Amino acid sequence: MDLEKIELAAETIRNARYAVAFTGAGISVESGIPSFRGEDGLWQTHDPIFVEIEYFQKKPLASWSKIKEVFYDMLNDVEPNIAHINLAKMEKRSFVESVITQNIDSLHQKAGSKFVYELHGTTQTLSCTECSSEYDLSFADLNFLPPTCFVCKGILKPDMVFFNEPLPPFALKRSTDETMKADVFIIIGTNAEVYPANELPVKAKENGAKIIEINTNPTEFTEAITDIFLQGKAGEIMQKMGEILYL
Ligand code: APR
Repeated sequence: MDLEKIELAAETIRNARYAVAFTGAGISVESGIPSFRGEDGLWQTHDPIFVEIEYFQKKPLASWSKIKEVFYDMLNDVEPNIAHINLAKMEKRSFVESVITQNIDSLHQKAGSKFVYELHGTTQTLSCTECSSEYDLSFADLNFLPPTCFVCKGILKPDMVFFNEPLPPFALKRSTDETMKADVFIIIGTNAEVYPANELPVKAKENGAKIIEINTNPTEFTEAITDIFLQGKAGEIMQKMGEILYL
């Protein structure tokens, strides 16, 4: 861990006019949630077809069985780690204005972040595919799959973005607005592969923002747009950042 670079990054954030964080699965790995594309990533062990919208519509039971296994049973009792917690403290101290996340685990909100924009939706709510009734997860009985709507008996779908589905308009609009306002853009734990989310860091750079990237490995962003690359685990680096900023 390069302490000098972490100090430089902390100073850059402290002096920022409008710092925004952009996170991916890597920030939740130290909470016990596997990433998607790392060596033991979810897409190494599971065929992602079950979260393609066409497959869900054709085979809702088969899709729901995998969704429950991968995104609910496994996420049952996960907690935010120090990276989520310190990011929330940075928002409280007005060092960071908001978090744009690709994650669907709600750990930023659980850690106390208030302004969180979930580009890929969330597993915490579901919607009826027939009448669009909305449900909090606590009202869906996942012991009987696929879960159905109390109103019309339609099949419920998690409010996470499936492949080949559009991103939620509100989250996309707010994330784009925040990106364009940022003079410091902090990328944590994403490998920059998924469009259109991966366009936002590039837009921030083009708009003159300073790019800080935290990742265990270099990514497509690192060479192309990153100004300060902090190589290492998000938890360890954000812990150090917290000490420097007296969080
Ligand atoms: N600390 C920091 N970075 C980490 C850590 C860690 N402890 N562990 C892994 N990483 C990095 C990996 O090096 C990788 O670059 O986090 C990144 C995780 O990449 P992905 O698994 O591809 O996750 P993400 O970039 O969020 O994927 C984007 O793809 O499948 C879709 O919708 C899904 O939101 C997801 C999107």
